[in-house]
This record gives sequence, C-alpha cells and structure tokens, in this order.
Amino acid sequence: MSNPVLQVIVCSTRPTRVGKSVADWFIETARAHGGLDVEVADLAEIQLPLLDEPHHPAMQQYQHEHTKQWAQRIARSDAYVLVTPEYNYGLPAAGKNALDYLWHEWGMKPVGFVSYGGMSAGIRSVQMFKEVVTTLRMYPMSATVSIPNVAEHVSEDRTTFTPTDIVTESATALLDELAKTAPVMAQLRD
Ligand SMILES: Cc1cc2nc3c(=O)[nH]c(=O)nc-3n(C[C@H](O)[C@H](O)[C@H](O)COP(=O)(O)O)c2cc1C
Repeated sequence: MSNPVLQVIVCSTRPTRVGKSVADWFIETARAHGGLDVEVADLAEIQLPLLDEPHHPAMQQYQHEHTKQWAQRIARSDAYVLVTPEYNYGLPAAGKNALDYLWHEWGMKPVGFVSYGGMSAGIRSVQMFKEVVTTLRMYPMSATVSIPNVAEHVSEDRTTFTPTDIVTESATALLDELAKTAPVMAQLRD
C-alpha cells in the first residue's frame, strides 16, 4: 500500500521570511520519517491572488487556471501541515486566502500545524486556523510543533533552522499522528 500524500503548506510569503527555513527543516524531517509522501506548496511561489473566483468554492465551478491547479494539488493530498507565523496575534492572510479558495478538496482529511513566533510560538495563529479548518471539515491533530523565539534558532542568513530536542520530538509526534489518521480518514471520503 502506498503512503498517504502529505502537503506541507508554507504560509509565510515575505521576502525576508524565516518561515522557509522552518519549513525546509520540517520537510526534511517528514521525508526522513518515511510514513508519508511529502509534497510542498510554498504560497510565496504559488502566488494565489486574493480570492477572485465568482462562485462559492463548494460549486467547484472554477474559472481561473490558478484555482484549478490549486484544487488539483489539494485534492490529491491525504493530509496537510501548515507551517505558519503569527501576525498581530492572528493567522497570516495568505494562509487564510489559500484555504478559502476551495471546499470539497479539503474535507475529511487531517491537518497539523508547525507554528513559530516570539514568546507565543505562533499558537494564537494556530488557534485561529483551527476554527477555519474545522469549518472546512478538516480534523486538526492534537500533536503540534510550536517554536518560541524562532529568531534565536535561525542562522543569520535565514537559510537554516536548528530545532531544539523538544521541537524535534514534537515533529515526530505530529508525523506519527498524521500517518495513523490519514488512512482512516480516507475511508470517510467518496
Ligand atoms: C506583520 C507582522 C506581525 C507580527 N506579529 C507578531 C505576533 O503577533 N506575534 C509574534 O510572536 N510575532 C509577531 N511578529 C514577529 C514574527 O514572529 C517574526 O517576524 C517572524 O519571523 C515572522 O515569520 P516570517 O519571517 O516567516 O514571516 C510579527 C511580524 C510581522 C512581520
């Protein structure tokens, strides 16, 4: 049996972001885990416009090529991890916009979070995301990767994130939970 497909969605789009280094570490960790086939959706590269579809996503009457491609990517995934910063005690707009584009494609699939920030470790962003993803019928994982004071763990050129032991352990816990949950939730879908 093939592994479930995990889509790692990088939610930070700023040119000087640290999120890419955190995501690169998590992607490497996920590939080494071996229980999931990992794909990467970097929202800075994908550049979805602010939601510009005329119809509600539940109708799946997509007019734009960028929406069709996004829908295909999300539909072929069995699980998601959102790598996310916290902006102004909340979630990043690019992440919310990417979620709003679709409806059916997200449903009945597990979702995990890798968040980072200052003292708060980005957890207020995750709490906001949880309200949105459950509306889209995704199932948030209990295991969570929360990285406080992220700047202290990223190299000066922002290319390399070095995790603490507890962050490494939490990533394994999240990947284990996703690998167990994804095949079960696949049975809930048509
Ligand atoms: C617009 C903006 C708002 C921010 N708000 C918060 C915040 O509410 N809480 C926090 O811990 N850090 C906040 N920060 C600091 C970020 O944690 C830090 O800049 C981090 O590097 C952002 O992730 P990114 O570099 O991947 O975009 C904010 C940064 C920006 C640019």
